[in-house]
Amino acid sequence: MSFLRNAAKLFNSVYLFTWDTCIALANLIAPNLKPGSVIPHGRPGAGGKWPEFVPPGKGDSRCCCPALNALANHGILPHDGRNIKFTEMTHAVQTSFNLSSTFSIFVPTFAANMLHRNYKTVRQIASNILIDIHSSQDKFDLADLNIHNGIEHDGSLLREDARFDPEQDKPSLPLITELFASATGKDAAGNLVFTHADLSRASGKRRTAARATNPDFTLNKSQKGFASGNCASLLLVFGGRVADLEPFLTEERIPEGFESRVLARWGLSLLVFNLNIFNIERAIKEEAVPTVMAQNETA
Ligand code: HEM
Repeated sequence: MSFLRNAAKLFNSVYLFTWDTCIALANLIAPNLKPGSVIPHGRPGAGGKWPEFVPPGKGDSRCCCPALNALANHGILPHDGRNIKFTEMTHAVQTSFNLSSTFSIFVPTFAANMLHRNYKTVRQIASNILIDIHSSQDKFDLADLNIHNGIEHDGSLLREDARFDPEQDKPSLPLITELFASATGKDAAGNLVFTHADLSRASGKRRTAARATNPDFTLNKSQKGFASGNCASLLLVFGGRVADLEPFLTEERIPEGFESRVLARWGLSLLVFNLNIFNIERAIKEEAVPTVMAQNETA
């Protein structure tokens, strides 16, 4: 059974990445969407009009991801952050940020596997009736994503490490202030923006500091990929624009009038996203400073 399951997973991955390459190529040929028409008509955020922002209240579930928290704060995902279907998350991120269908399925599927749940309701025929089995297995609460060393990892730009902030559901304002101080770019309209180099530099600084102060610090290769993926999302979805990122990162609020900077007709592909991750990650330099563990050992 487990052989069949693994074979099905491999087939799904090959299918998804092949389809993603087709999307990336089609995006190269097709004309871009026009600014102002990125979000489909009738969807939250169309024409820059977002549903009302309501900060989380007592008992609401929140996580380490500013984008998912913001979608819940605007009621695009359930405001209490509970019992969210993985497929609902796919739909919400795809239409709100103009991600490709492949991207929007890949990350939620990864999250479902991480939580040992099913991305979709499993259906089975029993006594000639189609029934849903494990129907609670295709849902999650936002806080479920905070499992340390799942996708959540040390050395993040917006959260203290889990050792110092086990909840991981709120941004760290001192870290975010430091992050904004590292923006040096200007876009065509003269707005302050983050560049790839800014985010590589900020990540290197943050990882160096976290490694030096957190005795539990770990960051493996795939977590580095997620970390640089988060930076890539700030550059691609927000164009690195500091004015839009301030409310998004500090309050987890989508600013009125905001529209994804991804103009590709079929949304941001995993291929383009991964190329950006590669560029950010390879430029990250950590300073060689003694770690807390090494200091403790020599004391
Ligand atoms: C598609 C489903 C998504 C899932 C399951 C997800 C999950 C996560 C998780 C678990 C983290 C914590 C990683 C850490 O420790 O730093 C995270 C961080 C982050 N996510 Fe998401 N995310 C999703 C979509 C998005 C989207 C669409 C965006 C941008 C528009 C985004 C932007 C970010 C950013 C900027 C961080 C960095 C947090 C930090 O450095 O502290 N995410 N996400």
